[in-house]
This record gives sequence, C-alpha cells and structure tokens, in this order.
Amino acid sequence: METAPEVATPFVTSRFEGWRLHEFEEIGSTNTRAGSLPAWSAIRADIQTGGRGRTVDRKWVSDRGGLWLSAVLPCPGARAKWEILPVAAGWAIIGALREAGMPDLRLRWPNDIMLGHRKLAGLLVERYRNDTAVVGVGLNVSNHPEFEDPALEGKTACLVDLMPEPCTVESTTRLVLRALRRMHGLLLDDGFRSISDDLNHAWGQPRRVEVTLTGRAHHFEGLFQGIDQQGRLRLATPREGSRTYDASQVALLRELE
Ligand code: BTN
Repeated sequence: METAPEVATPFVTSRFEGWRLHEFEEIGSTNTRAGSLPAWSAIRADIQTGGRGRTVDRKWVSDRGGLWLSAVLPCPGARAKWEILPVAAGWAIIGALREAGMPDLRLRWPNDIMLGHRKLAGLLVERYRNDTAVVGVGLNVSNHPEFEDPALEGKTACLVDLMPEPCTVESTTRLVLRALRRMHGLLLDDGFRSISDDLNHAWGQPRRVEVTLTGRAHHFEGLFQGIDQQGRLRLATPREGSRTYDASQVALLRELE
C-alpha cells in the first residue's frame, strides 16, 4: 500500500506507556500519516479532512471533539498470525470501555463498536508495511457527526453521553492506546483462541444479516455464525452453505434483527 504525503506539522509529541504520540490540529487521515512510522508510534488529530472508512467510497466524518487516532503495532512473523487484528482491536477497546463502566456496548463484525443500533466507533486496520499494522480508531467522544452529515442522525452514539465518569479526547486516547498494547501482548502469546472463543460466546445465537460483498452491487441474506480462528466472518446461506469471508471481502454487513 502506498503512503500519500501528509504535510501537517505535529503540535505536540509526547510519550505514554511505551507509545510515542504525535498530535495534530488538522490532518488528512491519521492512518495515512501513521503508515510510514515505526511500531509503537501513534497519530491523533483534532480534525481529519480526509478521514477514511472501511470501504473505499466511505468518507469518515471527523469533526472536532471526536477521537481520530492511528496506532502502529509491530507484526512479527507470519502475516496470517495477524489476520485477527481487526477483530481483536475492536474486542480490546470494547473490553476497556466496559472496564471503565460501559456494560452495554457490543461488537458488530468485524469491529464496529455499537450501543444497540447506534455506532460509537469504527476501526480501519491497514498494512502499509510487512512488519507493522496501523490500527485506525474513530470514536465519537463529544462531537456531533450528524451536524456534518444529517444522514447520521439517530445512527451514532457519543461517549460523553454514556460514561459514568467525565471523559475527554485525551483520557480516551490513553484508554485506547493501553487497550491496544495489552491486546498485542495477548496475540503475541497466541491468545487469539481466547479472543475468538470470547467473541463467539458474546455473539450468542446466529443472527440474520444482509451482506454486500466488496465490488458487488447486490446484497444477499445469510446467518451470521460468528468468527473462525483468523477472525473471518462465518456466514451460512441456503445456496452456498457455510462460508468464511475476511474483512476486506465484505463492504457492508447489516443486521436484520
Ligand atoms: C469504519 O467504520 O468504516 C471505519 C472508520 C475508521 C475511521 C478512523 S478515524 C482514524 C483513522 N483515520 C482514518 O482515516 N480512518 C480511521
């Protein structure tokens, strides 16, 4: 993947629990900027002018007050070992938010963090280099994405409305970076089995979903059956039986119940 040049200058660089955090007022996309940085670097911006969502055509609204953060994680060894990273990152952040007092959150495959049917956060994991992965986190803290895109009205949730304690972009940055570091240690210790077991347990019974595959115009219905050991979606349809898809193959997964 090529790294497009970014021209902004960081307004502050600091260290936090092994991370080197560069913060900007405004940037195109924190993921793009993080792509060329070494492991354990992180980029945060108050505003993104070119924030990207998981599908190519999806612009990510990144207004002031939200957390727009990209963390660079080392990925030693075989590429396949890290395929679960997108799911594991969502799992880790949801776990940290639960510990901070938010019990009602859930994960929508692969890594949307949801409160009921409202989206609190989305993640975009990209591999710019063989030895690292960029975990991009977009999390609504005190921002109002629906002001910028009225189509988001009623579809998003914000952390300040949910947390029992006051929270800020700064405190949420620390929570996310700490969660990602802990999750990384678990994956290094081959903990993906416990992550996938935990997630499959949390997802419970198969649920009806509508899936649009990347690059296809039509969608089809199936039964979401959880994830396999690489974090791939397990989907059953009457025509195809049970199949698996990785996150790059699925443009949209809509829950029907
Ligand atoms: C999605 O749900 O479609 C994923 C959204 C990911 C948005 C974050 S914000 C920080 C990072 N930089 C980007 O350009 N995108 C991710």
